[in-house]
Amino acid sequence: MASAVPAHPVAIITGGARGIGLAVAKRLIHDGARVALWDADGTALDQALGALGTGDGQAMAVSVDVTDERAVIAALRDVGNTLGAPALLVNSAGIAGPTVPVTDYDAAAWRRVIEVNLTGTFLVSKHAASAMVIQGWGRIVNIASLAGKEGTPNAPAYSASKAGVIALTKSMGKELAATGVLVNCIAPAALDTDMVKNMAPAHVDIMVNKSPMGRLGTAEECAELVAWLCSEACSFSTGATFDLSGGRTVY
Ligand SMILES: NC(=O)c1ccc[n+]([C@@H]2O[C@H](COP(=O)([O-])OP(=O)(O)OC[C@H]3O[C@@H](n4cnc5c(N)ncnc54)[C@H](O)[C@@H]3O)[C@@H](O)[C@H]2O)c1
Repeated sequence: MASAVPAHPVAIITGGARGIGLAVAKRLIHDGARVALWDADGTALDQALGALGTGDGQAMAVSVDVTDERAVIAALRDVGNTLGAPALLVNSAGIAGPTVPVTDYDAAAWRRVIEVNLTGTFLVSKHAASAMVIQGWGRIVNIASLAGKEGTPNAPAYSASKAGVIALTKSMGKELAATGVLVNCIAPAALDTDMVKNMAPAHVDIMVNKSPMGRLGTAEECAELVAWLCSEACSFSTGATFDLSGGRTVY
């Protein structure tokens, strides 16, 4: 029998310094969580922690590259000592990589995108899941992408990495289904964050034009779905991929 959700669960949010990760942190704090923002960008992390405006013991920031397993283990220890064992994990750290045809795609860039988006998600989930299984309750939410279902032209590594995240979610979801730890992912279409702001305007226009709602989504809209997936109300879904696409996704 699974344990009950902690009253003030500890949430690790990778990529928490900006964008979806930061919006998720604000939303989970609203629900009573204590949050650990993890990010490789130390400067942005400090600003993000300040922007949360929380009191002592409610939030912390950890500078960590999610592709470095030793750093991930050390960061988890840091969170455990400061806030307590994590019950929630949101894997939002990610990079888009270059937008170029596959025939021109640099192999080192390919490896880095796979390392950050897929291997990073695996490493943090691997070590955080151990703590959650011991507690008998946990929620892991991976931010995949519509690119992982559709395959985005000129973004082969990004698309492949996100398809990998969807498959990792299915694998872990089935494996942990009876432990009280549920693992789901979200496949958003384009959302209005720095990742999209850094893309060529013509590329963004193509994405908006594909949207039946005719607009980008927001990080806050994504955070609403994450909050539900992190809650006790989400009780019969695991290994699932939830769309967030303004009507664009067709399967
Ligand atoms: N914005 C979108 O349109 C969109 C759509 C679908 C999926 N996603 C996914 O959502 C997630 C968050 O996207 P976003 O729009 O908030 O991006 P963002 O670029 O605004 O934020 C990503 C954060 O991840 C951090 N990061 C990158 N590499 C890291 C590493 N190795 N270790 C730790 N932190 C690292 C960055 O420093 C940054 O703060 C990503 O995985 C992205 O692929 C975004």
